[in-house]
This record gives sequence, C-alpha cells and structure tokens, in this order.
Amino acid sequence: MSSINYVNEELFIEGVSIEAIAGSIETPFYCYSTALMVRRYRDLREALKLLKPTIYYAVKANPNLAVVRTFSHQGAGADVVSVGELRRCLAAGIPANKIVFAGVGKTRSEISEALKEGVFQLNVESEPELIAINEVAESLGLIASVGLRVNPDVDAKTHAKITTGLKENKFGIELDRAPYIFENAARSLENISLKSLSVHIGSQLLDLAPYRIAYRKVAEMTLRLRALGFEIDHLDLGGGLGISYNAEKAPDLNSFSEIVNDIFGDLDCKIGFEPGRYLVGDAGLLVTKVLYIKKGRDKTFIIVDGAMNDLIRPTLYEGYHGVIPVHRGGEIQTKLCDIVGPICESGDYLAQDRVLPELNENDLLAIKSAGAYGAAMSSTYNSRPLVPEVLVNGGEFCLIRRRQTVQESIDLEKIPNWLETD
Ligand code: LLP
Repeated sequence: MSSINYVNEELFIEGVSIEAIAGSIETPFYCYSTALMVRRYRDLREALKLLKPTIYYAVKANPNLAVVRTFSHQGAGADVVSVGELRRCLAAGIPANKIVFAGVGKTRSEISEALKEGVFQLNVESEPELIAINEVAESLGLIASVGLRVNPDVDAKTHAKITTGLKENKFGIELDRAPYIFENAARSLENISLKSLSVHIGSQLLDLAPYRIAYRKVAEMTLRLRALGFEIDHLDLGGGLGISYNAEKAPDLNSFSEIVNDIFGDLDCKIGFEPGRYLVGDAGLLVTKVLYIKKGRDKTFIIVDGAMNDLIRPTLYEGYHGVIPVHRGGEIQTKLCDIVGPICESGDYLAQDRVLPELNENDLLAIKSAGAYGAAMSSTYNSRPLVPEVLVNGGEFCLIRRRQTVQESIDLEKIPNWLETD
C-alpha cells in the first residue's frame, strides 16, 4: 500500500487526512510522508547491498532539518553544495565525516569551514579550485581529502537544464585530464589527499544506459590511474535516479544495482551514491486551495493559492506534477483545466490541460511528487512568504517549518538615509 491514498474518497498521507492538516495549517503548504522516504532509502540500500555503499542524501532536494534527520536516523550521510547545507546537516545530526561537499564554486571561506568541520571529502570541479583547496588546507595545517569530479561527456537523456555530464556543461573536469591532475597533485599539492573520483551526469534519469556508459568510463579511469601508481580508494557515483511524475517507467533498482555490481564489483573501492529526488520526490505533496474558477470558452482556469514561487518546476523545466482533489468524487469536467497561481506571469501555473472533476471555491488540491526541489526551490517572488512544511509519521503530523511572515522579509531591508523623508 502506498503512503498517499484515498480512504472513503478523502486523501490521506499515511494515517493523517490532508483535510485535517489543512484544518490547522493554512494552505498552501507542503507535507511529506516519513514512511515513504524511509522505504525509498531502505529499498535503495537493499538493492545495492552487495557493495555496501554509503548513501549521501543530496540535501538540495529537500533541506528541511526534519527531512535530513529522518535520513540521518537511517544511517545516511549527506551531499552538500554550500556552507548553508553543511550547517543544516550538522544541525540535523549528520556527522561531518559522513558529508561530501560538492559544487563548482565553493568559496575559500566555505572550503575553510568544511575542512575545519572535518567533512569526509570535497569534490573538486576545476584545477583552480584544487589549488585553492590546497592553499586553504595549508593555511589550516590540514590535509584535505578530495575527490576529482570527472565529466565523462555522456548524455543523460534528461531535461537540458538538469543534464550535467556533457562536455558543454560547467560540471567536472574532462575525464582525460585526470591522470595529469593526479600527477600534478602528487608533485606539488602537499595538502591534498586525492584518492577518489566522483561523477554525476544529471538528474531525473529514466534510462539506465547513460549510467552504464559513464560508470564504465569511471571504472576504466580508476584502473588507468592505479596503473600509473595512484591509489583510488573511493568512488562517488552521484545521484540522478528518476521518479515517475506522469506514468513514465521509473528505473528499476535491481537493474541499476546489476550495472553497479557488474562494473564496480571487483574494483575494491568504497562506493558512495548521492540520491536526492528518488528518496524524497514522491513523498511530498503541495496542498493548495481553490480561490476562483474562471470558465473560458476553451478551457477552465482553476486559480489556486499556490503559485510558481512555491513550486517552480512546472514552468522552469516543463515539469509535470499530477494534480488530485483532496476530496474525491464528482463529475469529470468536460473542459481541460489549467491550475494557475496568483502571480503576475503567464508562466505561473502548476499544471496545464488537465482533466479534473468539478471543483468549487475552497476545495483543496494536492500537487503530487513535490517532495524534491519543491520547497527547496521556492522563493518569495511577489512578496509571497515561504510556505509551511509538515512532516507526517504514521498517525501524527508536525509543522516542521512555519510560514515565514511578510514582516520577516521586510525586516531584512533598509531605507538608506537619503531616502528617509517620505
Ligand atoms: N549529486 C550532484 C553532484 C548533483 O548535482 C545532484 C543534483 C544530485 C547529486 C542529486 O540529484 P538527484 O538524485 O536529486 O537527481 N532542480 C532540478 C534538479 C536539479 C538537480 C541538481 N543536482 C529539478 O527540479 O528537477
């Protein structure tokens, strides 16, 4: 049984009705199922058990402390890309030595903080960054553990904005340069310990073939580097496993693990993965309320209180999210519906051309698969406060982030003295 279900035509997330949550927390809000996140984590662990990898939860997908702690309690580490995410993970209880720090533009102060905290590894994305890490480590009197993020030039066959493994993408270092960089590091970068490669070719991968191609290249490079006398003891194989947003076939975990076992089974390396979306995407709903219904000649606009600032994926990536009524039943409408928000942009939609039942003002809708890159990418555009987040666990729920107030964002700003008179 799934964690998000109808019971007597009412939508439940685990043992809690969405309507009950909406009774105490105003819409729009996000809510997440603990059971589904934990199940995904355990399924992944189980599928990959042969190589006993560390799972570094990619915090960018959903950085809420309670979500991070949920994975921490399962034994996960974390993949972070900023000092903000690093501090969050430490606050959520992930030990520094289970944190990898990735990203193309780490500042020296971020590098310094990460090294002082004792993160497991910094994944380096350029040669100047490697030099910067060496200098910072030297100034701290430390040795920095570094993984070289390679760009294998493989097409992940995903949306152009979330593909990362092609040579025209800004990520990673050309694979063929790896031996040169290892030599250089061994010769002149005394505060670097470089014994790891990392790779991440993109996000929302539905086809496993690109993984096979990229992973083979990484395994071949591992052997080549070892033949040159370099020690490689850890491979960080990234994230990217897709989910089914619109009845697409999600990748089969066992087929994924076959690829991994086949390619890395005999390599005698510690393995890490950095899944984000796979762990949290399906576990989250964005719950929104119908404000008005505008019936046009060709289509119906369902105007809701959630908007593109709360969930940017539909307009940014043409991302599809299922939309379901919180109270099921009712006749299906004959016209297609666009579910749109109050923001002054034509791109402000959560869904387009959907078949929905008749709806009334104040009805609740749930936007599905919103647990990954939903709240995480929200903004205050149009001065709309960041929305609350709720975590459900069995029959209980907890407000894990309260709604930001407008006053809080106004308080960040300042009128300069030359504008002080009205
Ligand atoms: N590791 C690295 C180095 C990454 O850049 C990413 C995602 C991940 C792991 C986690 O990938 P996942 O398992 O979640 O696919 N905002 C976009 C997705 C951006 C992904 C960025 N990097 C979206 O909403 O589709």
